[in-house]
Amino acid sequence: MSYNASRMKTVLTQQEIYALVGEDLERVEDELRVYTRSPIGPISEIGRYLIDAGGKRVRPALMLLTSRMLGDVSGATIRLAAVMELIHNATLVHDDVIDRAATRRGHPSANTHWGNPMTVLAGDWLYMQSFAVALGERNFAVLDTLIDLTQRMVEGELLQLTYLGKADVGEDELLDIAYRKTAHLFSGCTRIAAVLAGLSESETERITTIGMNFGMAFQLIDDMLDLTSTEEAMGKPVASDLKEGKVTLPVFYALANGGADARTKVLRVLEERGFSSVSPDEILSLVNAADGVRRTRRLAADHAHRAVDALEAFPPSVYRDAMLSIPEFILNRQV
Ligand code: IPE
Ligand code: IPE
Ligand code: MG
Ligand code: MG
Repeated sequence: MSYNASRMKTVLTQQEIYALVGEDLERVEDELRVYTRSPIGPISEIGRYLIDAGGKRVRPALMLLTSRMLGDVSGATIRLAAVMELIHNATLVHDDVIDRAATRRGHPSANTHWGNPMTVLAGDWLYMQSFAVALGERNFAVLDTLIDLTQRMVEGELLQLTYLGKADVGEDELLDIAYRKTAHLFSGCTRIAAVLAGLSESETERITTIGMNFGMAFQLIDDMLDLTSTEEAMGKPVASDLKEGKVTLPVFYALANGGADARTKVLRVLEERGFSSVSPDEILSLVNAADGVRRTRRLAADHAHRAVDALEAFPPSVYRDAMLSIPEFILNRQV
């Protein structure tokens, strides 16, 4: 823990943030184990494989911290935090099929292990299982939120596919994709916490926007890490996005400001769907020369700080301190 005098707040480390909801997260893990059980062998095996591979559990942690900041964590909060993680996992297995990704969380992806047909069906099953659990709460506001964010997520993935292999995608389109495919799920986590806490319409909206901004920051940093991190840290190869045909925001800046050389090299990777004639390092140099990493990071920071400003309206508590510390975690994460 440290004190940031310029913002007059206590900054918690990632470990301290997670420790605050550590027991809640253990209960979420128990629920996840129950929800991924099925009499059909491959469903249980894929479910168990995904849950055991770990992952940061960012979405349930965000929902639990928001709930604690607003009041209590109930059985419903635990179940719905597990639902958010389950939806996230369903998304990831489909995403890896779509992206033909061979690794996830440092292990062979489910599609590598079980093949596309079984993985797609297991993903479908997990989505429906998430909704079945959520339906048990008999809360239309929760269901509205879940349906909305799932549709936005699928729209984001579809929109991204329409630009696959193309360099002519704009900044607004890229931000729209990030909103849909990632930020809405984050906003759902904070929104459902607000719904369960019985907040007013305007406060619920404020909390929803906080989650949305955290989610945007998270995806923009993800796009940056894809280029700047290591395979060891990320559990998947460096520059996977470009190799998969996806121009992300840092690469967009190289295309927009980097001149003909940058354009030629990025197009080459998109065409080859690989790094046989241009290396990931060359791409990173071009992105850096166009200030792409710094600009992406700054945009992520803008979003994170918008969330922080909105959080100031809530009463002080250690949980609010943890929420206020989320930007440090998101902006400085290595994984
Ligand atoms: C990966 O999410 C997909 C994105 C939205 C960037 P996470 O980075 O939260 O994945 P896990 O759950 O920790 O593996
Ligand atoms: C994130 O997209 C997955 C969704 C939010 C659907 P990415 O394709 O960027 O995620 P990674 O990089 O595979 O984890
Ligand atoms: Mg992917
Ligand atoms: Mg990515």
